[in-house]
Amino acid sequence: MEKWMDFVMVMMVSLLTFIVGEEDGVTYDGRSLLIHGQRKLLFSGSIHYPRSTPKMWPDLIGKAKEGGLDVIQTYVFWNLHEPQPGQYDFSGRYDLVRFIKEIQAQGLYVCLRIGPFIESEWTYGGFPFWLHDVPGIVYRTDNEPFKFYMQNFTTKIVNMMKAEGLYASQGGPIILSQIENEYQNVERSFGVGGPQYVQWAAKMALSLDTGVPWVMCKQTDAPDPVINTCNGMRCGETFPGPNSPNKPKLWTEDWTSFYQVYGGLPYIRSAQDIAFHVTLFIARNGSYVNYYMYHGGTNFGRTASAYVITAYYDQAPLDEYGLLRQPKWGHLRELHAAIKSCSSTLLQGVQSNFSLGKLQEGYVFEEEHGGCVAFLINNDGVNNTNVQFRNKTYELLPKSISILPDCQNVTFNTANVNTTNNTRIYFNRQNFSSIDDWEKFEDVIPNFDDTPLRSNTLLEQMNTTKDKSDYLWYTTRFEYNLSCSEPTLVVESRAHVAHAFVNTTYIGGAHGNHDVKSFTLELPVTVNEGTNNLSILSVMVGLPDSGAYLEKRFAGLRDVELQCSEQESLSLTNSTWAYQVGLLGEKLQVYKEQNSNDTEWTPLENITTQMLVWYKSTFETPEGDDPVALDLSSMGKGEVWVNGQSIGRYWILFHDSKGNPSQSMYHVPRSFLKDKSENVLVLVEEGGGNLLSITLNTVVVANFHQSRSKSFA
Ligand SMILES: *[C@@H]1O[C@H](CO)[C@@H](O)[C@H](O)[C@H]1NC(C)=O
Ligand SMILES: *[C@@H]1O[C@H](CO)[C@@H](O)[C@H](O)[C@H]1NC(C)=O
Ligand SMILES: *[C@@H]1O[C@H](CO)[C@@H](O)[C@H](O)[C@H]1NC(C)=O
Ligand SMILES: *[C@@H]1O[C@H](CO)[C@@H](O)[C@H](O)[C@H]1NC(C)=O
Ligand SMILES: *[C@@H]1O[C@H](CO)[C@@H](O)[C@H](O)[C@H]1NC(C)=O
Ligand SMILES: *[C@@H]1O[C@H](CO)[C@@H](O)[C@H](O)[C@H]1NC(C)=O
Ligand SMILES: *[C@@H]1O[C@H](CO)[C@@H](O)[C@H](O)[C@H]1NC(C)=O
Ligand SMILES: *[C@@H]1O[C@H](CO)[C@@H](O)[C@H](O)[C@H]1NC(C)=O
Ligand SMILES: *[C@@H]1O[C@H](CO)[C@@H](O)[C@H](O)[C@H]1NC(C)=O
Ligand SMILES: *[C@@H]1O[C@H](CO)[C@@H](O)[C@H](O)[C@H]1NC(C)=O
Ligand SMILES: *[C@@H]1O[C@H](CO)[C@@H](O)[C@H](O)[C@H]1NC(C)=O
Ligand SMILES: *[C@@H]1O[C@H](CO)[C@@H](O)[C@H](O)[C@H]1NC(C)=O
Repeated sequence: MEKWMDFVMVMMVSLLTFIVGEEDGVTYDGRSLLIHGQRKLLFSGSIHYPRSTPKMWPDLIGKAKEGGLDVIQTYVFWNLHEPQPGQYDFSGRYDLVRFIKEIQAQGLYVCLRIGPFIESEWTYGGFPFWLHDVPGIVYRTDNEPFKFYMQNFTTKIVNMMKAEGLYASQGGPIILSQIENEYQNVERSFGVGGPQYVQWAAKMALSLDTGVPWVMCKQTDAPDPVINTCNGMRCGETFPGPNSPNKPKLWTEDWTSFYQVYGGLPYIRSAQDIAFHVTLFIARNGSYVNYYMYHGGTNFGRTASAYVITAYYDQAPLDEYGLLRQPKWGHLRELHAAIKSCSSTLLQGVQSNFSLGKLQEGYVFEEEHGGCVAFLINNDGVNNTNVQFRNKTYELLPKSISILPDCQNVTFNTANVNTTNNTRIYFNRQNFSSIDDWEKFEDVIPNFDDTPLRSNTLLEQMNTTKDKSDYLWYTTRFEYNLSCSEPTLVVESRAHVAHAFVNTTYIGGAHGNHDVKSFTLELPVTVNEGTNNLSILSVMVGLPDSGAYLEKRFAGLRDVELQCSEQESLSLTNSTWAYQVGLLGEKLQVYKEQNSNDTEWTPLENITTQMLVWYKSTFETPEGDDPVALDLSSMGKGEVWVNGQSIGRYWILFHDSKGNPSQSMYHVPRSFLKDKSENVLVLVEEGGGNLLSITLNTVVVANFHQSRSKSFA
């Protein structure tokens, strides 16, 4: 009897193991990943959960699935989740488990890139700023304090996933994890510490025993069994392959566009070019391609890194609002279907490669019995070309690949776009054009005496603000005794923007850009004999997110002086400076919907070009489900809140090379809005701007012909 029970138990356990595939989890060989023992060719897309809202997730994931994706890839955002050491936040947009469960519910897999350094055009590359104040810390090298916190957070995330049963080895959707991120870019800066750290990171990750493989992207020396993967736009051409014949060829970031900075133009990568390089990678044995980004979304609040605009990868197959961007989304969907129709042969067949002409070549995957797939490649970027393949003639478009899932019929050519273009259209739903719509709160320009924090040097900005604000006031007081009455104020800054005030009167500003580390403000100023107050507002538009020794970066003012001539100047660099972190309005939290401090608001009465003013208005939620956006093209620079939630920074005055703002439309997620009562809109404006031209819009996409008729209607 007991023996019989034992037998039944053993049978039940092994049956369960068989169904769930617990024993295999995810494995791999030189050809592909194997999920529960099944070989897989996978299309994947990056969607970052905090760059949209939980309400948007089901639709985004659904559109990714419909677009032919098998996997959703996301980074994990350490600085959102651990704002203070040991204090965690996984609520709302930060609800990683809910995001993964939504992906699972729709039948897709997950690639979890824990990092926890992620770069990602995310402020401080995802590091919580408190790391900076850990004694003796050096990030991303063989440094004990750093390794402690990195291991602590990585363990926290892995344990959380395990507790929810989310790894494929537990029957969950997570099939891959990433440790570190493009580390090889900085490895050499750390000497012997670099390779030691790579070894440690791999070992640490493996010890967490997830039952699914780890990857290190752009890391040629990834230690076994961690898989080194490719990031870039042309991995079929550039990737020398994994560092072992037993590892599959995976592409973790196929850039569908490129991040955009203030002053920069959007990077448009064509659907044809993306399709060409994906197909080439598959023809050359690739078995996993991830689109970075598939949906970029929005850098809400102050989460964008230095100079990066608020919209993220708006040119991806799903645009910032989650709307289909055509023809990109449709063209890739057809590509995925063409490849999937023959993926079994691609994964089981034997590959051969042959020339079809001077600039033409072919790849064939052939199974012993039956299946045969061919890729016919034309690398001639100008001319159509006829090639002979197996006694038939095929015409190839310039720079294209034809896919023949049966080695006979072409079902897809990467340059032949079958999807109709669409256009995004904004419908004006509300204006704010009456002065009576607005209230204001004038921020205060502090003088030396108003600011308690003193120092005899120019303090480093990040370490002073602790990333609590973009703004740091540097104030000083000086006795003027030079011979000229209108000297030049010269300020060298390593922050991003500087605004100068003498005795609280604004005298001008200057800013830098993404590609140079410092800028100089030079302005004539009127000073009086005797005591003068100088207040400089130094502004950062996001913290840096890349490069070695991030903890040692210097931001803020470097040098301040008044010059009458080259010979005659007054240096203020070593004067006594007093500091204020943040604006008064930030301290009072005037952007909050309900605050006991709202006596501070006064009627607008007049439009001025005054600096540092907070503005408040209200609006109704537009009917329907279409996404909502504010048109801020009439404004200067600042940040916007809706019902107390920041929808991001704006910087209209920083024009691109064609003379336009890099971003004028700002996404207001539907879930930030109210059903019944009015919504509260608050802006802080640094540089003037005309509030009365702000509009509230809804956003739709329409195909080319429709959009034409609409705009003429
Ligand atoms: C991580 O550090 C916190 C304190 O910051 C501690 O409470 C916790 O036990 C640590 N966890 C691990 C896995 O080391
Ligand atoms: C693809 O894999 C096959 C079999 O392992 C190998 O012979 C061939 O060289 C590989 N081709 C490329 C382009 O990597
Ligand atoms: C394309 O065709 C033109 C005209 O036939 C020829 O002059 C040119 O060399 C061709 N380009 C390439 C890259 O073969
Ligand atoms: C191509 O044609 C030749 C001669 O007509 C024939 O011998 C050969 O088998 C054909 N090849 C294929 C792949 O059909
Ligand atoms: C594929 O091509 C063959 C011969 O060229 C043809 O007989 C067959 O009908 C085609 N199949 C499809 C599905 O188009
Ligand atoms: C092109 O579009 C048509 C109509 O939408 C569709 O029937 C056809 O299958 C598409 N072609 C490819 C290669 O997907
Ligand atoms: C469709 O959009 C692409 C850019 O994405 C453009 O190059 C092409 O000319 C457009 N086609 C039509 C018919 O408007
Ligand atoms: C950073 O600021 C702290 C005070 O908050 C100070 O003790 C420390 O010396 C500063 N570190 C650097 C590198 O400036
Ligand atoms: C600034 O204010 C001081 C008194 O606080 C005054 O002596 C000085 O003349 C003023 N300077 C200017 C330029 O107005
Ligand atoms: C400020 O003081 C530092 C030393 O404390 C010195 O190296 C530097 O030259 C001084 N700068 C100026 C402009 O006087
Ligand atoms: C009101 O201002 C005080 C600082 O003066 C601040 O501590 C408090 O949080 C503010 N209250 C609200 C509700 O914003
Ligand atoms: C509004 O501005 C005008 C001209 O700039 C000025 O004459 C008027 O006094 C201002 N009104 C108020 C209430 O500030």
